[in-house]
Amino acid sequence: MQFQWYPGHMTKTKREMQEDIKLIDLVIEVTDARIPMSSRNPDIDNLAKNKYRLILLNKADLADRKKTSLWNEYYKNKGYYVVELDARVNKGMKNIQDVILSACSEKIERDRKRGIKNRPIRAMVVGIPNVGKSTFINSFAGKAAAKTGNKPGVTKGKQWIRLNKQVELLDTPGILWPKFEDQEVGLKLASVGSMNDEILNKDELAVEILKFLHKEYTGKVAERFDVEETDDMTALLMSIARVRNCISKGGELDYSKAAALIIDEFRAGKICKFTMEVPM
Ligand code: G4P
Repeated sequence: MQFQWYPGHMTKTKREMQEDIKLIDLVIEVTDARIPMSSRNPDIDNLAKNKYRLILLNKADLADRKKTSLWNEYYKNKGYYVVELDARVNKGMKNIQDVILSACSEKIERDRKRGIKNRPIRAMVVGIPNVGKSTFINSFAGKAAAKTGNKPGVTKGKQWIRLNKQVELLDTPGILWPKFEDQEVGLKLASVGSMNDEILNKDELAVEILKFLHKEYTGKVAERFDVEETDDMTALLMSIARVRNCISKGGELDYSKAAALIIDEFRAGKICKFTMEVPM
């Protein structure tokens, strides 16, 4: 599911989220661990002001482990709770439950002092398209989760999923827009496949990906494709087309086919695990 954002759409989403956020204690922000900055919404800190915060570095299975640790440190130092995750796998979910309770411990303690018992923490999942919000909700809520039905104050059509006595989750995630006016950000989003592919020139994207790999993960392209790595990206693309037998009907090398193949293998983590940015 991909989105084209335009101002009207953004205003509506923002307004809805402002309403939903009033009802919750904790914002669970899903990011793509391969681009932990570029996959965030620029307004989220403002939207989620005064809420407990958890950042999920999702798709960590595809990311560079050392760089994921740097990001983990970085966001922790900024006061967020952070979890590295593969949202498709259920086994990390118990840990998340514990982290949620830690993140909200102040509120739990306050309720306890006031004699309020069993008031669950309410959380909502937010993030830009394709970072894994739905996958996370499904894994986290699991089959056992019961929907608690409509309640006053919740945007029409939204429901709470009661995870257990301690945590309730809004069943639909808040979808936010990326910082798409920034070209660097756009390139990174396109590289990991979080932007509408139709608006991209795949040949150019593949060259950018090869440049990135050659600089940051030297040797991985050579290893994957069994070619000689060089600074000349056109020559590199040509070698890959040759090795992978990308030939057009006329019998010539088909660069576009090679480009598409490079993009697919890169996104799927087949060339190497990678992270495209480090904290500054
Ligand atoms: P969204 O709600 O934020 O839009 O994202 P969604 O859960 O739909 O996930 C987008 C794609 O990312 C899905 O792949 C999903 O399986 C994959 N995904 C989510 N979390 C992880 C993770 O931690 N690791 C990995 N490796 N993949 C993850 P898909 O349905 O196959 O879509 P696509 O790959 O064809 O785009």
